[in-house]
Amino acid sequence: MTSEISSAVANGSAGRGDAVRIAVLVSGGGTNLQALIDAEASGIIKSGRISLVISSKPGVYALERAKKAGIPATVVPRASLSQEDFESGIRKLLDEYGIGLIILAGFMSILSPEFTSKYPERIINVHPALIPSFCGKGYYGLRVHRAALDRGVKLTGATVHFVNEIPDGGRIIMQKAVEVKDGDTPEILQRRVMEEAEWKMLPESAEKVCAGILAAGAEGSGL
Ligand code: GAR
Repeated sequence: MTSEISSAVANGSAGRGDAVRIAVLVSGGGTNLQALIDAEASGIIKSGRISLVISSKPGVYALERAKKAGIPATVVPRASLSQEDFESGIRKLLDEYGIGLIILAGFMSILSPEFTSKYPERIINVHPALIPSFCGKGYYGLRVHRAALDRGVKLTGATVHFVNEIPDGGRIIMQKAVEVKDGDTPEILQRRVMEEAEWKMLPESAEKVCAGILAAGAEGSGL
C-alpha cells in the first residue's frame, strides 16, 4: 500500500470499525452527492462512510446538502489558488480526516498527475457519457450532453471509473446506457442520464470499491 490514504485504512482509522472513510469532491448542485448520502442512509453503501465533502467553489448547493446530512464540508477555492496550493489544500484535509476513498461527484477541476499518482485506485469519478465517447479535457457537465446531441447519437449514458493521470482515462468500474429521445435538450438529456444511470451507479460503484478495499485490508495483502 502507498500513501496516507491507504495507511488510514490499514491502521484502523478508516472509520466506524469496518467502514472506509469517504471524501466527496464537488463543484455544483450535488445531486450525485445526495444520491451517495441517501445510499448510505438506506444501506446500499455499507462498507464506506461519507466523512468529508470538499467543494472547489464557494456557495454551491452541494455544501447545503452536506450540512443537512451533518457531514463536515469545506471549500478549497480553485479560482483563487494555484493548482499546487489547491491540491495541497485538498491533500491536507484528506490526511486530517483519514480518508480511504475519494469520490469526484460533479467535480469540475482536473487533478494533476502528481495528485492522482498518490492515490492509485483510490479516486473514482462519474462521467456523464459512455467513455470513450464525449470525454477528456473540455467535456464536462452540459457540454457533454450538447456534444452527444450535436453528434446525433441514439444512445448515451454514464460511466464510473477510477481516476488516473489521463482525464477520464482510468479503468472503468461500471457503465449504463441511456436512450436519447427526439426533442431532447442538453438539460432534458442530462436529467435522464442522472436519473437512469448516475444516481444508481455511483453509489453501487462506491460500495463495490469500498468492499474491495476492506477485503484487501482484511487479507493483509494491501495494494
Ligand atoms: C453530473 O452529470 C456529473 O456526471 C457531471 O456533472 C454533473 C454534476 O451534477 N460531471 C462531469 O461532467 C465531470 N467531468 P451534480 O453536481 O448534480 O452531481
